[in-house]
Amino acid sequence: MTDPVPAPWADAHVVLGIETSCDETAAAVVVDGTEVLSSVVSSQVDLHARFGGVVPEIASRAHVELLVPVIAEAMLSAGVEAADLDAVAATVGPGLVGALLVGVSTAKSLALVWDVPFVAVNHLEAHLYAITLEEPDLELPAVVLLVSGGHTLLVHWEGHGRYRLLGQTVDDAAGEAFDKVARFLGLGYPGGPAIDLLAMQGDPAAIAFPRPMLDTGTDFSFSGLKTAVVNHVRQHPEVATADVAASFQEAVVDVLVAKARRAAVDTGARALCLGGGVAANSALRERLLSVCVEDGLQAFLPSRSMCTDNAAMVASAGWHRLRMDGPSPLDLGAEPNLRLPVIVD
Ligand code: KG4
Ligand code: ZN
Repeated sequence: MTDPVPAPWADAHVVLGIETSCDETAAAVVVDGTEVLSSVVSSQVDLHARFGGVVPEIASRAHVELLVPVIAEAMLSAGVEAADLDAVAATVGPGLVGALLVGVSTAKSLALVWDVPFVAVNHLEAHLYAITLEEPDLELPAVVLLVSGGHTLLVHWEGHGRYRLLGQTVDDAAGEAFDKVARFLGLGYPGGPAIDLLAMQGDPAAIAFPRPMLDTGTDFSFSGLKTAVVNHVRQHPEVATADVAASFQEAVVDVLVAKARRAAVDTGARALCLGGGVAANSALRERLLSVCVEDGLQAFLPSRSMCTDNAAMVASAGWHRLRMDGPSPLDLGAEPNLRLPVIVD
């Protein structure tokens, strides 16, 4: 991939990334957008589990307590000091506003004190750059299926900062559906990993759940599927939970993979990539790999730790954004509803 390099930011190499958009407090040091010197993620899962989901107020408070120690640990394990850093990048959105504000304020303060640029990072763009961290040779254009707790997007990635939106969810995000179904089944929070694990013991063909919008367009819908699961379990209380988990997961995977595959063929993409927390799902990874082999497409599946929220992807996206746009203004706030900056014809 080539990208434009406006002076004078071409000399920036070492970036501290900060991620606090939801329930992971994370910091990382990355060189030239690709070489990860350290990546520290402190998960708040235990704090939120008893509430069955992320409690925004608790998340913000935990970020305040954890962020500075997490940054210190990331710098220590990378072997860098403040003077070695060329920029501080932080997720400014989308996400929980209070949680984002902790990361944004900390990043701007550090940038001011250390006299280096502050770079605002879009969390969705960061998930895309997570792919290049592990696959620096990724050839564009590629189709990316970005599936997280808050988003389900099909993106045509044409070049640095150049994205076209091919499809998105019209209601729940895929991860949200996993979390809601898991909660209903009493599997706890976060739901995705719990369903993934339990589904391994179940029969994916046990229940024929609907495949919403499978043959219609490029958008997704998951809320009807979640309702179908609830109705089925209420009508058949004796059903094995593992079979419900496996059959639900199979329906989600069928829809996600069919649409991603069609998008890759229709756009003539060279590669099909996964991003976002749901990309950690074993069945989704397995199926995507097998259709890519059938279609002669390159498949790029980031490792599980790179799929879920982390700050290495923020530092990487920040390094690219610095080269594309220069530093961000220090009067920038959090942008909870930020969207991926897509090209509109
Ligand atoms: O990207 P992410 O860490 O945070 C957001 O930006 O939303 O994604 C979190 C989502 C949650 O909904 C979680 O249940 C889901 O990713 N997830 C999974 C798996 N691991 C995490 N979903 C299905 N299978 C998994 N193994
Ligand atoms: Zn995320």
